[in-house]
Amino acid sequence: MKAIAVSPAKVILFGEHFVVSGNSAISMTIDLPTTVTVEPLKGDEIQIRSEDLDLEAAFSPTGQILQGAGPNAESTLRPIFEVADFTLKKLNQLGLGLKIAVKSRVPIGMGLGSSAATAVATVSALTTLLGWPLSREEVFDAAYSLEKMVHGHPSGVDQATVTYGGLISYRSGKVEATLQVTKPPLLIIGNTGKRRSTGEFVGRVTRLRETEPKVYGRIASEAQEISDRAFDALRNGPPETLGPLMNENQRLLESVGVSSPDLEKLIAAARSAGALGAKLTGGGGGGCMIAAVGKTTHAGVSRAIQEAGGQVLPSEFVTHGVQTALHED
Ligand code: MEV
Repeated sequence: MKAIAVSPAKVILFGEHFVVSGNSAISMTIDLPTTVTVEPLKGDEIQIRSEDLDLEAAFSPTGQILQGAGPNAESTLRPIFEVADFTLKKLNQLGLGLKIAVKSRVPIGMGLGSSAATAVATVSALTTLLGWPLSREEVFDAAYSLEKMVHGHPSGVDQATVTYGGLISYRSGKVEATLQVTKPPLLIIGNTGKRRSTGEFVGRVTRLRETEPKVYGRIASEAQEISDRAFDALRNGPPETLGPLMNENQRLLESVGVSSPDLEKLIAAARSAGALGAKLTGGGGGGCMIAAVGKTTHAGVSRAIQEAGGQVLPSEFVTHGVQTALHED
């Protein structure tokens, strides 16, 4: 018997960072799957394998590393142990042996929700295997609680997006609205390849909010206005208005210090090649940017991002959140 959960990845279209202090963010799920398979194992070890990174580690029920294979196996795989441990504790099942395999197409630490996707898929697969399948709300609550333990002050937007799926507006721990769009915006994702920690950049914005509350307040209310206008444009059109709103959002993100020269190079390349608008997505400081494009500019913008040193990633919209199934074998 094994349970398999597949989570999509996410991109934030508007409102990252400002969502941490109570603004709305607009985000959507994309077709870059993370698959987590959980099987019972004799004994009490939790064995974790990342197929893409070719890493393995075994942990005792108290979290001691028993065995690790591959560079940084323990530090890379420990967050997955923490998710399993948290879930087992919640279900009063501590001491159960498990074999967990993770396979993901999401680049780690690039702003596309790799840690949320892994956490959400692990919680879903494990609870399903143990006969306690959770509602989406419960999966979100568990993944969000875990993220709070890791990052201190996350908004939960990543966990909500990959749990519920689709194009959503998220605010203060809740999905405000799911947009039933027939034609999602056409996007290109460009990856700078520079890995960074979201927590560090969230901390930077928190410090600005604490030391310069008036300045931050003005920027945040402008960001909220942009998210509101973007929501309206996504629901009622015209889609072309999204591009300039993205550019405005990028300007605000730059003003709070979460952009980077690498991101700005890709953003400038996309705009010069005819993108309707472009901005960083997620935590910033590196990671990924997004560009809104029309059908005729798609290929040119994609090429320009690559020529500027970026890697173009698939960005196909998917409407579903995490999906889980039990397999008898
Ligand atoms: C990260 O994808 C989004 C941030 O707004 C952090 C958060 O919301 O917790 C930067």
